[in-house]
Amino acid sequence: MQDVDVAAATAFLRLFHAENPSAGPVRHRLREVQAEIQRTGTYTHTPGELAYGARMAWRNSSRCIGRLYWHSLRVRDLRHVTTPEGVAVECVNHLREAAPGRRIRPTITVFAPDRPGVPGPRIWNEQLIRYAGYAMDDGSVIGDPRYVDFTTMVHKLGWPGGPGTPFDVLPLLVSVGDGPPLMSTVPGDAVLEVPLSHPSYPWFEQLGLRWHAVPAISNMCLEIGGIHYGAAPFNGWYMGTEIGARNLADVDRYNLMPVVARHLGLDTTTERSLWRDRALVELNVAVLHSFERAGVTMTDHHTESRRFLSHLEREEKAGRVCPADWSWIVPPISGSATAVFHRYYDTAEMSPNFAHHPDAMERGLGHGTVPGW
Ligand code: ARG
Repeated sequence: MQDVDVAAATAFLRLFHAENPSAGPVRHRLREVQAEIQRTGTYTHTPGELAYGARMAWRNSSRCIGRLYWHSLRVRDLRHVTTPEGVAVECVNHLREAAPGRRIRPTITVFAPDRPGVPGPRIWNEQLIRYAGYAMDDGSVIGDPRYVDFTTMVHKLGWPGGPGTPFDVLPLLVSVGDGPPLMSTVPGDAVLEVPLSHPSYPWFEQLGLRWHAVPAISNMCLEIGGIHYGAAPFNGWYMGTEIGARNLADVDRYNLMPVVARHLGLDTTTERSLWRDRALVELNVAVLHSFERAGVTMTDHHTESRRFLSHLEREEKAGRVCPADWSWIVPPISGSATAVFHRYYDTAEMSPNFAHHPDAMERGLGHGTVPGW
């Protein structure tokens, strides 16, 4: 691990002080930080810098449509936690605190950063809650095909496997430096899940589908002012399409369009019946209906598109660039029915931010690369 880049630290501190006048003049803090970097090769964020830096990282996440509430991110400052055991325990606490009474609160837990010669902890899982994918001998998969490699890897590391349902929660893997990963299961009470049903089709419930309520990304590095927080899991709430139009629908995920189309009695022998499109819509109706019925926070893509454009407007009024990636912002169904479709966006890379590190991806997979990681 190299020394912290003084220019990156300086740029962040200037921004932090400009946006937070109550933090006082930046001059004094710059001198302090420069001296600390010279002495130790790194520096320590104040709790205020860490919290605001994490919020800025969300604000700068070009792929996220849900940034209107960036300012309300809850930051759990757990920089003193350095061991795999401590990280695993606090990841579970994160899940519990993120969804009290089924109301989801955007939350990030920040563990110890990397320091020169002292790497911080890493979480190997892509998200804190993900479903295993069991590869069967006939080439089929039970569960989420996206996690077949990860599931194989945790098996090799000693995981006995779950009950064998399509929705078995994977264990967490946490390591520090070159040390072996610690494996720990996520207790059931920390995994809020919603069984899926449809408001007008009783057969839908018989499909036995469910999804977890809290999407908590755990393999991205939070970078603030030259400091790398390699373990900083964060969550928001779901937008229905993430589950209904991707996780359950993608051909290389749960691939449910044909199943749903058959139950709907659609003609799947011709593309022109638009059986895929109609199945997608009903899947998404079921997801939104089920979360609503369960009282679990979720948003829909029409509302979220409108919110995103208000966010953009607010950012522009504040004199800031709001970077956005069209291909991620536009929802995976009914794109042109949402306002975010009909325009282009700034594509600047800004800091602070969340980054994918190739080493984390390889670790999470156990080998090579898979598109989309
Ligand atoms: N698309 C991912 C999933 O389906 C989650 C990404 C983050 N989503 C969010 N709403 N914060 O699990």
